[in-house]
Amino acid sequence: MDVLVSLCKRRGFIFQSSEIYGGTGAAWDYGPLGVELKNNIKRAWWRDNIHLRPDMVGLDASILMHPQVWKASGHLDHFTDPMVDCKACQHRFRADKVEEQSWIHYCPATKGNKFEVPAGEPCKHCNVRRSLCPDCGKGELTTPRQFNLMFKTFMGPVEEDAAVTYLRPETAQGIFVNFDNVLQSMRLKLPFGIAQIGKAFRNEITPGNFIFRTREFEQMEIEFFVNPLETIDGRPADEVWHERWIESRFAWYQRYGMRRENLRIREHEKDELAHYAKRTVDIEYQFPIGWSELEGVANRTDFDLKQHAQFSGKSLTYFDEDRKQHVVPYVIEPSAGADRSLLAFLADAYREEEVRGDRRVVLRFHPDLAPVKIAVLPLLKKRPEIVTTAHDLRATLARRWVTVYDDTAAIGRLYRRQDEVGTPYCVTVDVQTVGDSAKGEPGDRCVTIRERDSMEQIRVPIAELQGIFERLLGDGAWADVARSYPPARG
Ligand code: GAP
Repeated sequence: MDVLVSLCKRRGFIFQSSEIYGGTGAAWDYGPLGVELKNNIKRAWWRDNIHLRPDMVGLDASILMHPQVWKASGHLDHFTDPMVDCKACQHRFRADKVEEQSWIHYCPATKGNKFEVPAGEPCKHCNVRRSLCPDCGKGELTTPRQFNLMFKTFMGPVEEDAAVTYLRPETAQGIFVNFDNVLQSMRLKLPFGIAQIGKAFRNEITPGNFIFRTREFEQMEIEFFVNPLETIDGRPADEVWHERWIESRFAWYQRYGMRRENLRIREHEKDELAHYAKRTVDIEYQFPIGWSELEGVANRTDFDLKQHAQFSGKSLTYFDEDRKQHVVPYVIEPSAGADRSLLAFLADAYREEEVRGDRRVVLRFHPDLAPVKIAVLPLLKKRPEIVTTAHDLRATLARRWVTVYDDTAAIGRLYRRQDEVGTPYCVTVDVQTVGDSAKGEPGDRCVTIRERDSMEQIRVPIAELQGIFERLLGDGAWADVARSYPPARG
């Protein structure tokens, strides 16, 4: 994880929030490349789950909602984590997560020597298990008390109880309270889904592990509404749709290059299910911190719509024309984190390779996700024709794809820099491209394209560049395109 954090800072992906003031514990800022990467992930998710499907629509609800929403949803009463404090060092922990971290132990069997014992294991010298604070190894922990994770704030200028509201801890509720608005305005028929991307806030007791768990984060959520009276092949429609969504979401990460062996499905145990859920599975990723939740796919039944109908007094039903009756739809909810997806895509793309005795770091991002698609590089920055041609090329390509120009180092160095931020293609303008006007030698008006993963190079006419990138950054494979052009010298 430290390698990723350092790369992210050095190359402008992610910075600690308010760093010049010492930073905040659990918030991060996306730099120039990070914001492109995150936008690309959100764009791919939106396109695949909304634009390409006939049964989905989008929504952008506000973060501040009526406080009753959180009473109805159960968040005011149930959205809590058990918290314990160390009586000596005052550090706070989630009671249910204390065993998941390594612990400091002053071992009586070794004259009180200090050891760091791996998470969940006993001391190998005295065989004792952790009972004290894992951080200081000395203080007793308090008995657990429930801590509500919602951020409280005030609507309007007066800080009084009547003005209390909350920053939303999930985007989902904005969809439920708009169910009837969307249904009526879009004349939808079940089954259909409403999707939303937006910020959510949770006052996590122990945020950490970089952007894995933060107090402010973005969610990409779908609420897919299903007729509870319907069956598919003799099975309740909600159960079948739940399986379809698990499959679809599991495939989505792989479609953008995540390796299959780093993904798995984990079924929630009965005692682990949220108060609203009939069944939940987590799509887990093998993060640098170990296997952890990347996305949850829950069957929330009719819980939310019924609760909001009861608390608001408004009917939130669907009229089943065939059966001539009102039904409260069941909801399947694939809920992903945009930041957590970014961390997983980043970790999966990261490779250290040996190239002709040199170490190269490369981010093998899928081209749709790569923050920069093309880098235009002049071989010699002292030759004005080369520099002008490269600038012109950048300007032309930038109309269609994120394209950068860089002349701040020798070409080998420039390639390594682009590898390190995952740019799939570099275009190099050289002496041959522009020729030598002083000697009356015309250029060949060709440039070199270098592919990031294979590091192969081909020589192509500038006039064909646009068409070539339409293919390469569309569905075309490098090998197919490269076959039509002569190789360039490395
Ligand atoms: N509406 C259901 C819901 O919010 P969740 O499992 O609590 O379910 C869904 O959250 C996803 O949101 C998680 O799988 C994770 O990707 C992301 N997420 C949740 N809490 C987070 C946090 N504190 N920091 C970053 N991402 C978080």
